[in-house]
Amino acid sequence: MTHMMGIDVGTSGVKVVVVDERGQVVASANEPYPLSAPRPLWSEQAPEDWWDGTRRAVRTVTAALGDTPIVALGLTGQMHGAVFLDARDQVIRPAMLWNDQRTAAECAEITERVGAGRLVAITGNPALTGFQAPKILWLRHHEPEAYARIARVLLPKDFIRLRLSGSAATDASDAAGTLLLDLQRRSWSAPLLDALELPASWFPPVFEGPEITGTLLPAVAAELGLPAGVPLVAGGGDNAAAAVGTGIVTPGVVSSSIGTSGVLFAHMAQIALDPAGRLHSFCHAVPGAWHLMAVTLAAGGALRWLRDTLAGFGGAPLSYDALVALAADTPPGAEGLIFLPYLTGERTPHLDPLARGAFIGLTSRHGAGHLVRAVLEGVVYALRDGLEIMRGLGLAPRHIRATGGGATSAVWRALQADIYGTPVETLAAEEGPAFGAALLAGVGGGVFRSIDDAVASAVRVSGIVEPDAGRRAAYEATYAIYRDGYAATHDLAARLAHTSAG
Ligand code: XUL
Repeated sequence: MTHMMGIDVGTSGVKVVVVDERGQVVASANEPYPLSAPRPLWSEQAPEDWWDGTRRAVRTVTAALGDTPIVALGLTGQMHGAVFLDARDQVIRPAMLWNDQRTAAECAEITERVGAGRLVAITGNPALTGFQAPKILWLRHHEPEAYARIARVLLPKDFIRLRLSGSAATDASDAAGTLLLDLQRRSWSAPLLDALELPASWFPPVFEGPEITGTLLPAVAAELGLPAGVPLVAGGGDNAAAAVGTGIVTPGVVSSSIGTSGVLFAHMAQIALDPAGRLHSFCHAVPGAWHLMAVTLAAGGALRWLRDTLAGFGGAPLSYDALVALAADTPPGAEGLIFLPYLTGERTPHLDPLARGAFIGLTSRHGAGHLVRAVLEGVVYALRDGLEIMRGLGLAPRHIRATGGGATSAVWRALQADIYGTPVETLAAEEGPAFGAALLAGVGGGVFRSIDDAVASAVRVSGIVEPDAGRRAAYEATYAIYRDGYAATHDLAARLAHTSAG
């Protein structure tokens, strides 16, 4: 049996899995690390925490596996972050992450310098606060001494690649999330780098997902309990890698992943652009393919917020299962309570870092179960907004494949089928982006002939939930009100943001 390893440098922690050629996970480990918000709108992590966590998790896995050889290693991770390194490859300052919202002025500057239409034509996307390029300009304006020391800018997983293999490299799917990639050519855009006055030498070579970018450094291999010379493949951004691991590698299948953020992901054989930029258009980790993606920033994150808030009233925090069980006892529509999940601003469809969350329709009749149900429904409505834009671009998925935390409970699965109005599939085993990265490693390492072969060998659909006609109609009525909620509260949110308390 041959084995490959996938490493996911996530936001709450790193996950390492070892997978065999039939897609069985034979070992896995997680290591959490802190997230810091030193100021409102900021979100940062220490890259060295990622590296310490990765080393610990890999050692846990190799200790459990003994002498099982690993043929190749694949990397994935949170997208968009900016890791700034000096000429000695030392970290200059904490990494600014995908959910950091400080760069509104830099986004306006990029749009001004490049032109809104040209930016979407080259990169597939408008300037969004979470992306990497505006973070680099922010550093230029706000921390010029740090900016002057930059020799490299890497994405999170590629910092781990540098530490593991000594080579700087990235893959096309993650690179597309910087706002500096030419989406059609799948290489850095010289006109864009010129327009933003950024040196091309800061950015690593771009590979396709299954291509080999280097091999493990001997000293690192010895420390981690791996043989020296194990090849590393380019891998993918977490969404593209997860899509490989859930079989979203051919047109017509869409996945719905509910983790901290919520993502709808559609494979595209050709580039498709939402002219308004509400959907992201990125390269796929599948060579020569692209994908469309709708992102709602607070999905499982909204549920975590509610859980922590309820715990703040005293008593032990409820488990997610216990919380979701409260919602199961409450009727669909939460008896007239609607939640807008914009707790950290929003991407799809509003592209508004200042959007605010809200409960609309509270009455004294509403209790904890209603609040939980409204949060779950609001998150799926937010994803439905993205699905509607995809449908407008001509995509008509026959079914949607649920992944992440949202696939693990019957309540979430039924909610998705009813609110999307399509059957929802679940997978036999689903290990997230790390699993997809391991499959990409299997392709690069010669275990599988192609990504299609990897998916055929390792990904199995285990169940399907059909929408219920009655509940579907009830949700349509509430969704129509939800859709008007953002516009109705927009001015209030802007005014709140401008008060000293906001
Ligand atoms: C995608 C995005 C998030 C991060 C989180 O555009 O920002 O899904 O990749 O991991």
